[in-house]
Amino acid sequence: MGAKDDRKRRTAEVNEVLERFLPDEDGHQKTVLAAMNDSMRAGGKRVRPILMQETYRLFTMGKEQADCLPDESVIEPFMAAIEMIHTSSLIHDDLPCMDNDTLRRGRPTTWVKYGYDMAVLAGDALLIYAVETAARAFERTSYTDRVGRAISILAGKTGIFGMIGGQVVDVELTGRPIPREKLDFIYRLKTGALLEASMMIGAVLAGATEEEIRAVEEIASCVGLAFQIQDDILDVTATAQQLGKPVGSDEKNSKTTYVTLEGIEKAKADVAAISERAIGLLHGLSGSNPFLEDLIRMLATREN
Ligand code: IPE
Ligand code: IPE
Ligand code: MG
Ligand code: MG
Ligand code: MG
Repeated sequence: MGAKDDRKRRTAEVNEVLERFLPDEDGHQKTVLAAMNDSMRAGGKRVRPILMQETYRLFTMGKEQADCLPDESVIEPFMAAIEMIHTSSLIHDDLPCMDNDTLRRGRPTTWVKYGYDMAVLAGDALLIYAVETAARAFERTSYTDRVGRAISILAGKTGIFGMIGGQVVDVELTGRPIPREKLDFIYRLKTGALLEASMMIGAVLAGATEEEIRAVEEIASCVGLAFQIQDDILDVTATAQQLGKPVGSDEKNSKTTYVTLEGIEKAKADVAAISERAIGLLHGLSGSNPFLEDLIRMLATREN
């Protein structure tokens, strides 16, 4: 099986997990429930839950159950939760008051289909439903301290010192020149933080040591930076059909991006170099997971 098929299979497996955690669409608030579920089911690469599960596997592969491993199902509520938070960030990112985009994951954006009001609420609802979902992990393991720590990471990396903080600076500086150092700050938070949460939670639930968790955070930070630079590149070089979202969104909004600052060739070279740095750091850890390594390399050359 080729690496591409492998990723397809993993995406399908994640979709099955997510499906089990989506809320039922009934009651008086069913419009917003439909908006939440539609946005979740629209597709997406599922990079964050896959990275979470593969990091978990990195630290559990080859170990015996006797090494105090929890049931693997403890990771599942967190896989769903991180994808809910990511999806909520996309719903809000596309709003007319932010990037004002009309296509996402190959479909009209949530605000186009359900209205501005319902899109704001669907984003809010998904964000907090994610926490409710993550808390379901408490029933699945006796290592409740790990679940508590994982929820704290999830909240911290999402909030004002994480993804939301990055979006604040991104939105505030739209249309203005941004020095490289501030752009790095934005990327580390708006995109890096959720990737850090994904991989750190995988490590925490697997019982990794503090030192290992710190190393994973650094690896994920590199993966996140490379991921956002590649996103900027694709905004210039790809087609809407390939991405399932509009191209030229950054130019339309007069955004300073890695590409406008450094040029496309340097951006491409940096994505490769930053990803290799992540892989080098990964090799410094005691376990090994070749799929995770391939995935990080594939993300650096992704075309959607
Ligand atoms: C898009 O994320 C937003 C960024 C942080 C660059 P993804 O590229 O992971 O979007 P989906 O989930 O595949 O739609
Ligand atoms: C968004 O960055 C990062 C988020 C936290 C949603 P972008 O605005 O570049 O993401 P896309 O290109 O719309 O997916
Ligand atoms: Mg944006
Ligand atoms: Mg956007
Ligand atoms: Mg973008």
